[in-house]
Amino acid sequence: MSVALITAGSAGLGAAAARAFAKDGYRVIVNYANNEERANKLLAELPALSPLPQDSGANNFIAIKADLGSRDEINRLIQESVDRFGRLDVIFSNGGWTRFRGMVSIDENVFEDEWDGAFNMNVKSHLWLMHAAKKHLDETEGAFISTASVGGVIPSGSSLAYSVTKAAQIHLMKALAIMAAPKIRVNTVSPGLLLTEWANVFSDETKEKHRQNTKLKRFVTVEDVAEQVLVFAKTKSMTGVNVVMDAGFIL
Ligand SMILES: NC(=O)c1ccc[n+]([C@@H]2O[C@H](COP(=O)([O-])OP(=O)(O)OC[C@H]3O[C@@H](n4cnc5c(N)ncnc54)[C@H](OP(=O)(O)O)[C@@H]3O)[C@@H](O)[C@H]2O)c1
Repeated sequence: MSVALITAGSAGLGAAAARAFAKDGYRVIVNYANNEERANKLLAELPALSPLPQDSGANNFIAIKADLGSRDEINRLIQESVDRFGRLDVIFSNGGWTRFRGMVSIDENVFEDEWDGAFNMNVKSHLWLMHAAKKHLDETEGAFISTASVGGVIPSGSSLAYSVTKAAQIHLMKALAIMAAPKIRVNTVSPGLLLTEWANVFSDETKEKHRQNTKLKRFVTVEDVAEQVLVFAKTKSMTGVNVVMDAGFIL
C-alpha cells in the first residue's frame, strides 16, 4: 500500500490533498505545526473516505507534528514517517510562508527577517525535505510534488519576498527533477488565490477583484489543485513541470 506524506497538511490545500490521497487508497501522513486538534479532526475523517479495509483504517492515517522551518525537524519527520510505515511513495511538500506587504511599495518590502523567513520556508525547506526523503523515494520510484504559487510565475501575491522566493522554488524543483531522475519525478503546482485561512489577509474587495481578473471568473478550489497533485503522484511520464492553476488570472 502506497504512502503519501503531506506537509502543512492539516488545513487548506494540504487537507484537501490528504482527503484526495485517502480516497485514492493511499496511507497518509499529515504533517502540521501547531494545531493538534485540527490535525486529529482531519485524521478522523479519512478512514471513511478510504477504500482500505475499515478495520485497519485507523492505522493507515497518522499525524506528525514538525516545524518545516527547522531542518532537524524535517529530518525527524521523514524518519518518523518511515519508521511508522516502512516506505514513502509520495511527498506533497506544501509548506509556505509570507507576511502581507503588498506589491506596491519597495519601502514596505525590504525587511531582512521577512526575506530570510520566506527563503527558509519557500525554498530551503523543500530542498531539505527532498534531501531527507531521497533514498526512500528512490526505493519506491516515487514522486515529490511541491506547492509554489502564481506569485512565483508573475510578480504578484502577498509580498515581494513571497513572489521572488516562490519563483526560486519553481526553479529549484526543475533542478531537482534533473538531479533526482531517473527514479523520482519532481513537479510543482502553482495555484492562484485559494480561499483558505491563508487568504484571510486579503479583504473581500481584493478577493472579488482577483476573481473578476480571472478569465474564468472563479476562484481556484483546493479540491481541483489536490486532484492535480494526485495526477502528479500517479503519472509516470511527467517531471520538471510547473502547472499553473489560476483560472486564467495571468492570461
Ligand atoms: N491560499 C492561497 O491563496 C495560496 C495561493 C497560492 C499558493 N499557496 C500556497 O499553498 C500552500 C498551502 O497554503 P494554504 O492556503 O493551504 O495554507 P493554510 O490553509 O493557511 O494551511 C496552513 C497549514 O500549514 C501548517 N503549517 C503552518 N506553519 C507550519 C510550519 N512551520 N511547519 C509545518 N506546518 C505548518 C498549518 O498547520 P498548523 O495549523 O498546525 O500550524 C496548516 O496545516 C502554501 O505553500 C502557500 O504558499 C496558497
